[in-house]
Formats: sequence, C-alpha cells, structure tokens
Amino acid sequence: MIKPLGSDELNPLFVYDTERHHALTQEAESLPSMLLTSQAAANAVMLGGGYFNPLTGYMNVADAQGVCDNMKTTSGQFWPTPVMNLTKDVSGIKDAKRIALRDPNVEGNPVLAVMDVEAIEELSDEQLNDMAEKIYRTTDPEHPGVATWLAQGNYAVSGPIEVLNFSYFQTDFPDTFRTAVEIRNEIQERGWKKVVAFQTRNPMHLAHEELCHMAMDRLGCDGLVIHMLLGKLKPGDIPADVRDAAIRKMAELYFPPNSVMITGYGFDMLYAGPREAVLHAAFRQNMGATHFIVGRDHAGVGDYYGAFDAQTIFDDEVPEGALDIEIFRADHTAYSKKLNKVVMMSEAPDHSKEDFVLLSGTKVREMLGQGIAPPKEFSRPEVAEILINYYRSLNS
Ligand code: ADX
Repeated sequence: MIKPLGSDELNPLFVYDTERHHALTQEAESLPSMLLTSQAAANAVMLGGGYFNPLTGYMNVADAQGVCDNMKTTSGQFWPTPVMNLTKDVSGIKDAKRIALRDPNVEGNPVLAVMDVEAIEELSDEQLNDMAEKIYRTTDPEHPGVATWLAQGNYAVSGPIEVLNFSYFQTDFPDTFRTAVEIRNEIQERGWKKVVAFQTRNPMHLAHEELCHMAMDRLGCDGLVIHMLLGKLKPGDIPADVRDAAIRKMAELYFPPNSVMITGYGFDMLYAGPREAVLHAAFRQNMGATHFIVGRDHAGVGDYYGAFDAQTIFDDEVPEGALDIEIFRADHTAYSKKLNKVVMMSEAPDHSKEDFVLLSGTKVREMLGQGIAPPKEFSRPEVAEILINYYRSLNS
C-alpha cells in the first residue's frame, strides 16, 4: 500500500489507548486552558485522524515560515501549508508547560486535545501578511481565506498534542466522517490497489460525477473515494448534510455497487487554490489513495487563481519526490450537445463554446432557489431535487 508522508506507518495523534485517554481527560480538567480558533481546532482534528502525518502538533513560527517559503519545515519535512495554533490572547497560559485546548465549535467548549507548550511566539502583522501572500497568493482581506487567517491573532502557541475527540464531526456526521486510519484500513480490507480520491465542497453535479468516472476508467482504478469537506465554508456554500445526501444519492444510482466509498473529513475550507490542492494531495496520500483528482480552479474562490494554477504548482513548486500520490489532471469538463455526453473541453477541439452546456454557479443557485431544476445535462434530477428542497427550506 502507498506509504504515508514522512513515515512507514501512520501516526494519528488521537489517543486510542483507553487508560491513557481517561488519564488525560482527568488531567486536562486541572490544566490551564485556551479556547482554540475554529482553524486551530480543525488542525487538531486532522492531526488526530492521521491526515497530517508525520506532524506531531502545531508548528512554531520558524517551521511555519519554512513551509510558507518553500514547503519545508526546519527539519526538512515537506508540508504545504502552516499548521498553527494562532490566538489573540495568551494571558491564561503564560509560563504553562502543559495546557488543555478547548473546542470553540462544541457547546460548553469541551477539551479537544492536550498540548505540551514548546513556545509562545508573537508574530508581527507584516509576518502574518507575508505568510498570507505565500499561502493565498494575495493579502486582499476580501479573500475569505485571508480574512479568516488574519483574524486569528498574532500569538503562535506551538508544540506536540494528544487528541481526545473529533469535535462535532463524528457526532454530526457519523456515517460520513472518517479518519485517515479508517479509510486506509477500509481500502486494505476491500483489497483496492489503485484508488483515486475526489475532493469536494459541493454537491456533485454531472461534471463532477463524470470527472470521477473518467479518472477511474483512464487510470484503471479499483475504487473511488469521494472525500468531502465537512468543516466550515463561506456563506452561500451548501451545508455538509445537504451535500452528503446529494452525493449519496448520485453514487447509489450512477456508480457500480462497491466501487465508491463516501467519506468526509473535518477541516475548514481555506480557499487557498494551488497551495490547498497540494495539502489535499498530501492528506489523501496519508489516507491511502494512490491518485488524486485536480480539475479546474481546485479549491479556488472568485478570480484569485488561474483555472489550472492548482495543477501547475505540482510541477513548479512541489519539491521533487515529496509526494508519492499521483495527480489526475482534468481539463474543464462540460456536457457536449454534439456528442451528448460530458467531455473534457480540450478533447473536443472542433467544438465552440455554444456546443457545451455551461452554467455559472450563481445561475444554478438562482434556478434552484426558484424551485427550477437545472437541465439534466448539468445535474442529475435526483440531485437537483435534494438541492431544491434545501433552497425551499431556506425560503420558508
Ligand atoms: S473544491 O473547492 O473542493 O475544489 P468543487 O467541489 O467544486 O470545489 O470541486 C471538486 C473538484 O472537481 C476539484 O478538483 C475541481 O477542480 C473539480 N471540478 C469541479 N468542476 C469542474 C469542471 N467543470 N471541470 C473540471 N474540473 C472540475
């Protein structure tokens, strides 16, 4: 099976040993504690599930800066985006060696993880801006990822962590949330050798579905892992439970039985385009996928990134040999009225724009909001129905 990043075995930071778990839970109650930002909490969930192997906790400033500058920590470990615990207020944990990290996304702020504090460092606004520029390729505060990044605070609290639970993800999405350990195990149990992973933050329309079929066919895969983001999105994006229902319906009706695993992970969307695509590939390798689909404007937002920047970064910036997972690069896919099927546009050179069914996200949202199903060349009717019901519930 494909190896995780940086080690032979996956080392999830969740505490599986029940005695240790019990002891840590008790100890945490008497430790000084800090309330995490949602992003830091999501980092803990990813570390807990093994997705961020081989990291052992939150990065210090030198490691984070190295990652921003050239995708490497000070020890030379490849990693594409900083994994930090940034905060505005460290008054409650001054001089503490060991602290409890509390979950901002669960009522009562239960302890999510216990941490050995190695450093508390203050970053200047310039430093945070410089990091934003490298992660997001912009410092525009209108960019939703930059806005969230800059709102976290100027103190970096770093050190190794032990994770006690998976926040709201396991309770809210029991059928879909999976750790990297669980997905790796299931791939092995199913005996899949060639496995392609599909990242999504959307319900899957026909172009998404066909992209997965194309990848499976062309690569000769045993299976597909649809791996949806279950964390926070920007306003206007469709909530995870609705996407989940739409994706399940699509897979049930339009994929052969036992060829698809429908899964999700607990992380907030960064909207970092190219850098996020590399992060996506890294944690799909950790969960055991051999291939990863990167299409048009992967993890993008607005007009911040070129349509294929998230593909070229793998050639231009990812250090040679850093990743074993292979990227399935997809051109813009759309329904061809001439061929009566979804194709990659570059593979239909005799077509003009008018030969394709092209609808913008805004147009589709408008239609769904008015109870109108998008054409069957764009969305499966069963998927459209689920989305229309969701939009109807918003208006009632
Ligand atoms: S993302 O933010 O998670 O990337 P989305 O769920 O829309 O957004 O996309 C999931 C994957 O499908 C990404 O790799 C994206 O590039 C790809 N994709 C979505 N729509 C198309 C399309 N029409 N043509 C090519 N690739 C697409």
